[in-house]
Amino acid sequence: MKRVLITGIAGFIGSTLGEYLLARYPSVDIVGIDSFTDYYPLSIKTDNLAVLREAGVEVHDEDLVTANLEGLLEGVDTIFHQAGQPGVRASWGATFDTYLHHNILATQRLLEAAQASPAIERIVYASSSSVYGEAERYPTLETDRPRPVSPYGVTKLSAEHLMGLYASNFGVPTVSLRYFTVFGPRQRPDMAFTRFISRALLGRPIQLFGTGEQIRDFTFVDDVVRANIAAATATGVAGGSVFNISGGASVSVNDIFTALESLIGTTIAIDRSARVAGDVDRTGGSSAAAMDSLGWSPQVSLSEGLARQIQWLEPRVGSYADLV
Ligand SMILES: NC(=O)c1ccc[n+]([C@@H]2O[C@H](COP(=O)([O-])OP(=O)(O)OC[C@H]3O[C@@H](n4cnc5c(N)ncnc54)[C@H](O)[C@@H]3O)[C@@H](O)[C@H]2O)c1
Repeated sequence: MKRVLITGIAGFIGSTLGEYLLARYPSVDIVGIDSFTDYYPLSIKTDNLAVLREAGVEVHDEDLVTANLEGLLEGVDTIFHQAGQPGVRASWGATFDTYLHHNILATQRLLEAAQASPAIERIVYASSSSVYGEAERYPTLETDRPRPVSPYGVTKLSAEHLMGLYASNFGVPTVSLRYFTVFGPRQRPDMAFTRFISRALLGRPIQLFGTGEQIRDFTFVDDVVRANIAAATATGVAGGSVFNISGGASVSVNDIFTALESLIGTTIAIDRSARVAGDVDRTGGSSAAAMDSLGWSPQVSLSEGLARQIQWLEPRVGSYADLV
């Protein structure tokens, strides 16, 4: 890695990855692109970028679909493709166009440009456990049949297939990482832990969709960042490869409430609402393949990661009050 492009650099994962590279790989040049979508407030993305901007990192305020990507890729050997339109629940209905644009079209444009840039040694794509839907078994393996249950999952799987197609047809060196629910400092305001922690700190009841018995596999953001770097630098990884990246502890949402009550030191009131279409009962991935091929395994436990997210969110909770 000499010069890397991070797409979606202003987002939760992209900005954390950028800062990690800045701190631990000082000889690597970082260039970023982000179209600053309005899915959540711009002020959060501006804050996410503060350290990177201070360090002089070049950030292009452009959409991958329309940007001059060949120019942007000059001298770049590694792409971390984190840009995308997240959110399972919002992907139904009229907003589906947004998901097509940011998840599928943007990925296809990037792959076309990468195909024309022979210096590219690796493209790491931020895929998702949502490609599995209600999985065939737990822990789920990469070879299990993906059957997404949300339009979001369909678009993430389509982009993953594009990664595979450009690898098999044109030799573009792609790797897809299926992240299992990522958490930690800067987690997006629409995501469960940010909503739960903020509301608990603000003394408000937490809105829960479903019974709370749904099980999730959570992955700390620094572990996801390390997985990206491992995927970018590992040797002997075939183009088009796919790996699960999961924290490995399958816990229920009710267990999370208990953990939060003890970490925050307060009783949490819960408002229960019906389950939302597109939510699955369970996620849980095996990361054995990532261990074998990338030498990656998760390092941060759920309780340690939760404590770090609470510590980060506490002084900022006022600015999340209207969002959660
Ligand atoms: N957060 C998770 O738990 C999770 C889990 C699985 C997969 N993912 C995937 O990881 C990636 C990053 O997620 P996140 O939580 O950091 O989301 P995020 O919304 O915080 O970051 C995504 C960034 O991409 C930018 N972007 C979107 N479309 C773009 C385009 N066409 N051109 C340029 N920039 C564009 C957005 O402005 C945003 O800043 C996404 O692709 C998401 O689907 C996230």
